[in-house]
Amino acid sequence: MDKPETQVSSYLYQQLEQELRQAITQGRFLPGDRLPSIRQLCQQRGLSKATVLHAYERLEIAGLIEVRPRAGYFVSRPVPQRQLPAVGTLESKPTLVNVTEVMGDIMTQSAVFDLLPKGPQSGSPPQGVVELNRCIGRALRGQRGQQHHYYADPAGSAGLRDQLIRRYQRMGLNLPAEQITLTAGCQQALFMALMLCCDAGDVVAVESPGFFGVLQLLESLGLKVVEIPCRPETGMDMDALEQVLQQWPVKACVVTPAFSTPTGALMPAEARHRLLALASAYDLMVIEDDIYGDIGFEFRPSPLKADDREGRVILCGSASKSLSRDLRLGWICAGELQPRINHLKMVNLLSGNSFVEQGVADFIATGHYERHLRRMREQLRQQRDQLLQLLDQHWQQPCRASEPAGGLALWLELDADIDTLALYRRARQQGIIITPGALFTSQSRYRNCLRMSFDLPWDEKRRDALIRLGTLLD
Ligand SMILES: Cc1ncc(COP(=O)(O)O)c(C=O)c1O
Repeated sequence: MDKPETQVSSYLYQQLEQELRQAITQGRFLPGDRLPSIRQLCQQRGLSKATVLHAYERLEIAGLIEVRPRAGYFVSRPVPQRQLPAVGTLESKPTLVNVTEVMGDIMTQSAVFDLLPKGPQSGSPPQGVVELNRCIGRALRGQRGQQHHYYADPAGSAGLRDQLIRRYQRMGLNLPAEQITLTAGCQQALFMALMLCCDAGDVVAVESPGFFGVLQLLESLGLKVVEIPCRPETGMDMDALEQVLQQWPVKACVVTPAFSTPTGALMPAEARHRLLALASAYDLMVIEDDIYGDIGFEFRPSPLKADDREGRVILCGSASKSLSRDLRLGWICAGELQPRINHLKMVNLLSGNSFVEQGVADFIATGHYERHLRRMREQLRQQRDQLLQLLDQHWQQPCRASEPAGGLALWLELDADIDTLALYRRARQQGIIITPGALFTSQSRYRNCLRMSFDLPWDEKRRDALIRLGTLLD
């Protein structure tokens, strides 16, 4: 009795699969289009949920459609055959750092993550930021009596620390309340971590290409750097790190396991475990920069610190990339070293801004932050895809691009004879700002590379700037 029914249902799912397949290949559904929901198809066709699901599963396996959690089924976008940028080789001799002046110029143009200098802004900010402003406004209006006469606890608002601890708990990281301190951004957290772990002249391992802010810190603290190749697919190369550790007395390693900048690399579990094992074997501290963790497009990677059994990881985070840079709000979780962090913060900042901290705590507690993240992740993913499409369509120059699954930027490698520092100067004259590859190393490398951000929507002006930039390469 069972057999004919199975045959009928397999026929039905195949029929539906075939029909949708044709609709996609004939262009009736375009890349990125949303497909009917399972419920709609069940109702319209009198099919069972299992039949529709089976058809969708088969289309997904065939790569024709993709499922986006809580959003539905969508027609996949074609994946161009892309070559990944190459990484530097290991040049393991530790050296002092001298960061280029270009960085200061880009910062004064406020264009670290844009192709255009920051002009006058119009229109209202996105929904999440409107809610955030409301929460901070409420905290300000709640000011009573003589509150303005008091400094806040140097560790930061208990309410916000509690919210951050709860979020980390959901990622598998359990932190006692006294092991998190609020900072004025991730840069300050990294600064304090390096101050605690190292003395002038010590050697620090960093990703290459890697975040220029860390290179600037190493420069000002008189630390030596050894650059470890960072692969767009897997992040910091653990074989190279081990080779360096065998040779040099490395005190600390600064790493961004989730969506490192500029490559957007995500370290796989195996590399994360190996990093912790190497830190233990060679007795070094790991300074984890988790600033991009919350903006993973598919999932939120757990922090490396969640697997830290020996108290070797100092976790640094921030609201700058996932919420607002203007908040100047970050945090640091340093385990046993936390009292020294609180002391250091007190010495150089006294304390933070309690209204902002309370407002952000309220924003997280009322669910606004998670809603904002859901919108932001989807938007960033689209903007990344649009950037890759624009490059494919408009740039004559061949380039290799990383295709990160999170963060705000990707890494481009151009022809070997293109100098992106010279390009920076030419583009600047046309009002276009780029972040040349040379910023992401202390050596003379990555001259033909640049970081390209997809943080902002590809409106007409930005599209035009990108296309014009392409013509400057020809
Ligand atoms: C990897 C990384 N870490 C830290 C920072 C600094 O962050 P914040 O604004 O929180 O100080 C940045 C900013 O670009 C960054 O890209």
